[in-house]
Amino acid sequence: MAAHASTARDRAIQYYQSLAPGQAKPGEATEGYKDIDELAYALSRVPTFTSRPLKVIAIGAGFSGLALARAVHVGKLQNASITIYEKNAGVGGTWYENRYPGCVRQLVGGKRRLPKWRGHAKIGPSGLTHGQLVKFSWAPNPFWPSYYAKGPDIQAYIDSVADQHGLREYVKTGHKVTNAMWLEDRQTWRITVNKTDGRDLVISSPDVSEGETGTTFDDECDVLVNCSGFFNNWKWPNVADRSKFMGKLFHTAAWPRDAENDLDGKTVALIGNGSSGVQVLPSIIDRVKKVYVHIRSPTWITTNFVAKFAGPGGMNYNYTEEQKAAWSADPASYLDYRRQIEEELNSRFPLYVDHTPEQKAAREFGIKEMTTKLRAGGKEELLEAMLPDFAVGCRRATPGNGYLEALCHPKCEVVWGKVDAFTSDGLCTSSGAVTSGVDVIICATGFDLSCAPRFPIIGQNGIDLRERWLENPHAYLSVTATDMPNYFTLMGPYSPLGHGSVVTSIEMVTRYICDFIRKLQTQNYGYVVPKPHIAAAYQKHALAWLARTAWASHCASTYKNGTVDGKLNSLHPGSRLHYFELLSTPRYEDFEWKSLCDSEDLIFAWLATGFTDGERNPREDTDLTWYLEPDKHAKQIRQTSTNGDMNGCRVNVHNGA
Ligand SMILES: Cc1cc2nc3c(=O)[nH]c(=O)nc-3n(C[C@H](O)[C@H](O)[C@H](O)COP(=O)(O)OP(=O)(O)OC[C@H]3O[C@@H](n4cnc5c(N)ncnc54)[C@H](O)[C@@H]3O)c2cc1C
Ligand SMILES: NC(=O)c1ccc[n+]([C@@H]2O[C@H](COP(=O)([O-])OP(=O)(O)OC[C@H]3O[C@@H](n4cnc5c(N)ncnc54)[C@H](OP(=O)(O)O)[C@@H]3O)[C@@H](O)[C@H]2O)c1
Repeated sequence: MAAHASTARDRAIQYYQSLAPGQAKPGEATEGYKDIDELAYALSRVPTFTSRPLKVIAIGAGFSGLALARAVHVGKLQNASITIYEKNAGVGGTWYENRYPGCVRQLVGGKRRLPKWRGHAKIGPSGLTHGQLVKFSWAPNPFWPSYYAKGPDIQAYIDSVADQHGLREYVKTGHKVTNAMWLEDRQTWRITVNKTDGRDLVISSPDVSEGETGTTFDDECDVLVNCSGFFNNWKWPNVADRSKFMGKLFHTAAWPRDAENDLDGKTVALIGNGSSGVQVLPSIIDRVKKVYVHIRSPTWITTNFVAKFAGPGGMNYNYTEEQKAAWSADPASYLDYRRQIEEELNSRFPLYVDHTPEQKAAREFGIKEMTTKLRAGGKEELLEAMLPDFAVGCRRATPGNGYLEALCHPKCEVVWGKVDAFTSDGLCTSSGAVTSGVDVIICATGFDLSCAPRFPIIGQNGIDLRERWLENPHAYLSVTATDMPNYFTLMGPYSPLGHGSVVTSIEMVTRYICDFIRKLQTQNYGYVVPKPHIAAAYQKHALAWLARTAWASHCASTYKNGTVDGKLNSLHPGSRLHYFELLSTPRYEDFEWKSLCDSEDLIFAWLATGFTDGERNPREDTDLTWYLEPDKHAKQIRQTSTNGDMNGCRVNVHNGA
């Protein structure tokens, strides 16, 4: 659909008329609609559930955007086209941008029929972390080099998915979306897109226009899907005078391709002990001359939750070529292996609920492990500051294999306190400590996670989602937003970011969105939007439930946008499995569905000819008796005794009379 196209209703009429052109012969149309409504009349000539064409625009080509492209590509969404605008020069999102040393994610592992540890090369200790199973169920990859995948391996996987599944054709890289507006009269979204100068990484923070050019154009679509990423607005430390520093300054989420060479033999300052900082330190310790680690908050550093599937001590290991070949030749055994890990992760959810034995055990284990390691490394004094009093999992629990050991390394000096200022060759902290002689500063200082979109998204009644969600980021089931018709978001507020694989959640949300789009296409709806009181009630429930979790404990975390006592509006109120079941049984009644026919009397016009497509356009595989498919409890009736004569009442079985 080009910009300035006709209304959704006009296009629907045009489409149905094209399927049944010319004058209707007697019996071919519902004549009662002829002079009442052009669309109802056109619909009455086509089979029920005829799908009208819809155009989808997705913003962002990370896992989310690609999942949606694949739904279109394989026909899960029929008669739909999709364009994905991606600001960077390549696909991959998180994995394209976060190239810092040690960026590692757990992928596969197993227990019962797993490769034996012996015979596998041991890797590490650097960069291991609690991660998730990262892969689409429809693109299994038996060729991961190691149990924990490294950032470049994940990026290579995404590139392969895009290439081998034919998804690149839907993606326009170097295109940054800067505005979206719902056009009520047309029932479409108008998107403003800026062609970038083609640079590798383009920032999506509000009011940052680096990389944008003078070339801007509008596009229009029926459905807008925001796949622009929860972790896509990285931030520098909130400290003045950054430009005073004369050395190299890097952020983990915008890591330049050639930055690695700047670390060898250099004095480095690393800010932050979130998941990124914890991964960076062990992977640079061997190559730097000295590293100052600036920490201001305690954090749990524990063994990976699925470490029992890893090598001894939770270590990473390479898969052998034989193992990879065996999985490749036997997809069922590979699936079984993946199931074991997913099962293990899913069964760990009680850890996140207050007062559970799992939480207690994790705390005891964490204390023991941190004490043992810091004591062994001769830096027991760090315990007092580092050991949290909040629940395990309140901040993202970071397994951080090798982190505590690296903190104890003679090259490492821990500097406690908030970084307050940059100097020409180092940093000053609130504790009064000053680091100097620093060549490189690495800011592992995370992201702005306010949940608010980073550019104006203006829906019904002039409501700008960017402003509304800044104040109160409520979303219904994380996917939809009030006043935003035909608008969906992936991993929005109240999504299950706190545990398990985000990619699996992305797949489940994609299915949910496709369900909605199919309903729009086949039941003559112009738009769908959640009812405001439903979204508000859902949010109240979510916040009330989340109060009983480890996430609500007293810590600064990403889930509260860096605050200690902020609202937990990033997280789903329940387990990931709980979320998946909710998505699998959509509550359509929680939404307003707006018919393309204005009259209330015509909301069933989509029942159309009264014939199904199979009846009207039978194909070779059409089954007109599909409902006779026996269920698994089917049981044949033994010979009946009445011979059709029931108390003298004869039943004619042929015509039902
Ligand atoms: C360092 C790090 C490690 C992580 N580790 C794990 C892990 O181990 N397991 C796990 O499950 N999850 C992990 N995550 C979460 C991770 O973000 C998700 O797993 C997943 O990759 C998100 O995919 P996405 O497509 O939704 O978003 P993203 O990958 O963030 O993709 C969003 C895309 O949208 C584009 N975009 C943004 N704004 C615009 C715009 N205005 N116009 C055009 N394009 C735009 C971006 O360039 C980007 O390509 C991690 C996150 C980070 C930051
Ligand atoms: N494989 C994985 O599992 C993995 C790896 C990396 C990232 N991630 C994801 O990405 C999210 C973000 O992780 P992240 O580590 O990039 O960010 P983060 O968790 O927000 O950590 C940022 C760190 O920077 C510190 N900081 C910020 N400003 C500072 C200042 N002025 N002085 C001193 N310290 C300062 C913060 O301290 P405070 O804590 O005191 O605010 C915190 O330790 C994670 O929650 C996770 O979901 C996952």
